[in-house]
Amino acid sequence: MDNWILRFDDVSISYRTKRGSLHAVSHASLDVMEGESVALIGESGCGKTTLATSVVGILPLAARIDSGRALYRKSDGDVVDMYALARNEKRLLLWKDVVMMFQASQSSFNPVRRIFTTFVDTVKAHDPSKNDEWILSRSRELLKMVMLDPDKILYSYPHELSGGMKQRTLLALTMILEPRLLILDEPTTALDLITQEKILRLLNDMRRTFGFSMVFITHDLSIVSELADRVVTMYAGKVVESAPVRDFFLSPRHPYSDGLLRAIPRLSTPSDELYSIPGTTPDLVAPPAGCLFAPRCGRADERCGRQEPESESCGGRAWACFHPVEEKNAID
Ligand SMILES: Nc1ncnc2c1ncn2[C@@H]1O[C@H](COP(=O)(O)OP(=O)(O)O)[C@@H](O)[C@H]1O
Ligand SMILES: [Mg+2]
Repeated sequence: MDNWILRFDDVSISYRTKRGSLHAVSHASLDVMEGESVALIGESGCGKTTLATSVVGILPLAARIDSGRALYRKSDGDVVDMYALARNEKRLLLWKDVVMMFQASQSSFNPVRRIFTTFVDTVKAHDPSKNDEWILSRSRELLKMVMLDPDKILYSYPHELSGGMKQRTLLALTMILEPRLLILDEPTTALDLITQEKILRLLNDMRRTFGFSMVFITHDLSIVSELADRVVTMYAGKVVESAPVRDFFLSPRHPYSDGLLRAIPRLSTPSDELYSIPGTTPDLVAPPAGCLFAPRCGRADERCGRQEPESESCGGRAWACFHPVEEKNAID
């Protein structure tokens, strides 16, 4: 099968720090298929944001892409490496092909300008063929889709909108040039639960309408079960597991994925019995030899501390572990 839309191929990204190079992403490979929704999960600091932002080219100044490619397949079938594109080539792809959405609190809107101006500026920067009239009528349609009143929103200033309204407005803006790939970095983290729920439902509706592919980062596994087709687990800068969403929840194979799942509070478990993965994440400036999860892993042996496991694939899923968790069947 070769219908991926985005392919991370052996990507390594580091940050220059006072202590030396910090290896935020190490030899990460992962495909996002056409129309697929991939959840990127893992503890804070494991490299999710670094990997995701590298695609759109907005890494911090201290970051360096040490190796690898982020291949994007355009609608005409041409493949481009997002890391190798010139700035103006990339500008023409962003928003129309690939768009990244952050938390609204990260102020995607200019505080001193009315919302409509942001719609106009964004569209014209990426597609000069669109005029004000087109932008106005399209933004009205999209704002209605996210259940907002266009007349009110377009002529408001950002501070006049609640967090949830801003996030819905941002979702409408994100869709305006009908991108083929959406990258979302914890898009609902700053919102209350009811608003989160609303945004997620809208995202699902939008996906049904527009059919875009999606990579989204979250630390909330209930969001994963609602939005993802596939789950990719990262640990200390590495992709350690990739599985269809049902397999992931039913039978995670990497001990780290298993730990993440066991750490979810359940109604049936008293909170004082809640599991948490022992130990802490490794120092990414001086990572230990072997499997990076080994020091925290109940299944690790001598070999794990010495040799790094390669990723193994089987039946549409993959994991990098010498001693994977036994496979569970739905009937067990
Ligand atoms: N600007 C930066 N300078 C130095 N280190 C950074 C910078 N941004 C992120 N890092 C480090 O890179 C690693 C990965 O960070 P990040 O990609 O933000 O992880 P995640 O999104 O999974 O929480 C972390 O160890 C983090 O401390
Ligand atoms: Mg992050």
